[in-house]
Amino acid sequence: MAPLIPTLREGRVSIRPIRLRDARALERELISNRPWLRQWEATLPNAPLSVDVRSSVRNLQANSRAGLGLPFVLEWDGEFAGQLNVSSITWGSLSSATIGYWVSERFAGRNITPTGVALATDHCFFSLGLHRMEICIRPENAPSLRVVEKLGFRYEGLRRRYIHINGDWRDHFCFALTVEEVPAGVLRRWLDGQADEQAAAIPPVDRARAATPLKPGS
Ligand SMILES: CC(C)(COP(=O)(O)OP(=O)(O)OC[C@H]1O[C@@H](n2cnc3c(N)ncnc32)[C@H](O)[C@@H]1OP(=O)(O)O)[C@@H](O)C(=O)NCCC(=O)NCCS
Repeated sequence: MAPLIPTLREGRVSIRPIRLRDARALERELISNRPWLRQWEATLPNAPLSVDVRSSVRNLQANSRAGLGLPFVLEWDGEFAGQLNVSSITWGSLSSATIGYWVSERFAGRNITPTGVALATDHCFFSLGLHRMEICIRPENAPSLRVVEKLGFRYEGLRRRYIHINGDWRDHFCFALTVEEVPAGVLRRWLDGQADEQAAAIPPVDRARAATPLKPGS
């Protein structure tokens, strides 16, 4: 059954379910933040990216009704600031999901994303009963790597040519948390200064591998 998507708040940040009437604000932000977002944007290997924002909101909602995702909007003082998607929800023996996110450039650096990730992960763990949350990040994306570092997500490894981003298959560093690691919750642990930033440390050997393109046939 599709889980209900709540509105959750911490300070000036909130996450709430995306609605079809967000399409206009979403489109405006996607267009005006094109240079800011493009290099991190998921693309399709064999098709152009859809520019129909209403259809993409509908797809997110359909995915959510199928129990496979939680499409949130990130807000700052009630203003649209970006998106946070819990996706690839797998129930049963895996009980895991993935988080992706972005904020408009003018909202960067206000802790909106780590707050949203913490709220969403705690909801998935303690309300929905998921066991594990994963975040995968391109090695070049220092601001996003900082988000998982702040929250103490645990480095799991390098995935070669893992996700199609900005027109090609890109390496990603993978981070995760399981519910047992955060008995008081991700948000509480971070706010209390108890998140272990070292957990997200990337071994130099993986940094070096990520800096070397995978050779054909290797
Ligand atoms: C990655 C991203 C979501 C982080 O969101 P955020 O809400 O700004 O997160 P934070 O406030 O925690 O900032 C994280 C780091 O970004 C850096 N940062 C802050 N302001 C910035 C700015 N104006 N421009 C670039 N980087 C900035 C800082 O290093 C900050 O760490 P600090 O708080 O220790 O100084 C955001 O930069 C973004 O949307 N980038 C483009 C899309 C993207 O990369 N999505 C993620 C794909 S995995």
